[in-house]
Amino acid sequence: MISRKLKVIRKTWYTQEIFGFEFDYPGIHPMPGQFFQIQVDEGIDPFLNRPISVASYKATRLLLIIKVVGRGTRMLGEKSTGEDVTIFGPFGKRFNPRKKKSLLVAGGIGIAPLHFLAEHLYSNKIPFDLVYGVRTTKDFILKKEMRRMCGKSLFVAEQGFARKETAVSVIRRMRMEDYEVVYSCGPKQMLIEMQKLKLPVPVYAFCEDFLGCGCGLCLGCAIMCKHEYKRICVDGPIFELREIDFEV
Ligand SMILES: Cc1cc2nc3c(=O)[nH]c(=O)nc-3n(C[C@H](O)[C@H](O)[C@H](O)COP(=O)(O)OP(=O)(O)OC[C@H]3O[C@@H](n4cnc5c(N)ncnc54)[C@H](O)[C@@H]3O)c2cc1C
Ligand code: FES
Repeated sequence: MISRKLKVIRKTWYTQEIFGFEFDYPGIHPMPGQFFQIQVDEGIDPFLNRPISVASYKATRLLLIIKVVGRGTRMLGEKSTGEDVTIFGPFGKRFNPRKKKSLLVAGGIGIAPLHFLAEHLYSNKIPFDLVYGVRTTKDFILKKEMRRMCGKSLFVAEQGFARKETAVSVIRRMRMEDYEVVYSCGPKQMLIEMQKLKLPVPVYAFCEDFLGCGCGLCLGCAIMCKHEYKRICVDGPIFELREIDFEV
């Protein structure tokens, strides 16, 4: 495990709750789905590091995008450009996306790792479309960047647009024959609803549930997959959706 103390080169607030840190991170080139563990504070409180996916990596510039949901992310949000942050990683299996026409399905902050996947697909000239759902229209981030890279894009919200939609309600009506693979990241409930659709193509889910140690030791992140327990932090975080048993 590599730990590095890095200076925040740029901090950007995308919305009132979502901000990004950019770091110079030469060396290991992370792959889509991989994540870093961020130390919230130099002391021992909060004790656990917070897992955050890679949202972009270009020419050693690493971008992590964080939604403030609790104490740890709030404390991180108080750090400014020029301050030091210690990160560990990258963690998670190196995942090679398929070279096939893809559909990306994002829910909320799930757009962050899918943006990194989109960069990878785009630079490898693999076509893809996007469905991106949020709670309210104020929650959209990276809209311009995603539009530039993808073919068709559909942005939907539960509040703020005349038509109330979720990513899943859109997928339900779509012609899946147009795609050979689907990648999805969002709240657990969204993944559960996606699974119920039984789409006729492989769906890879980026699982961003709770972690403990983040390095395979505590089993705090175990999920049932293909009838055995898998650890999100080292065996994932990407799993084939139909193989996950969310009820265990
Ligand atoms: C592999 C992985 C990648 C992730 N990538 C990102 C990312 O790119 N950007 C981002 O903003 N977040 C990401 N997350 C989620 C992020 O790690 C948590 O939101 C964060 O750890 C919460 O810390 P906190 O101290 O602010 O909240 P806490 O005080 O620990 O919790 C506050 C509230 O948030 C809920 N919560 C905490 N963690 C999670 C979680 N993982 N899933 C659902 N609810 C949670 C708690 O139940 C509680 O209600 C990722 C998680 C994993 C496992
Ligand atoms: S978080 Fe400890 S084993 Fe995965």
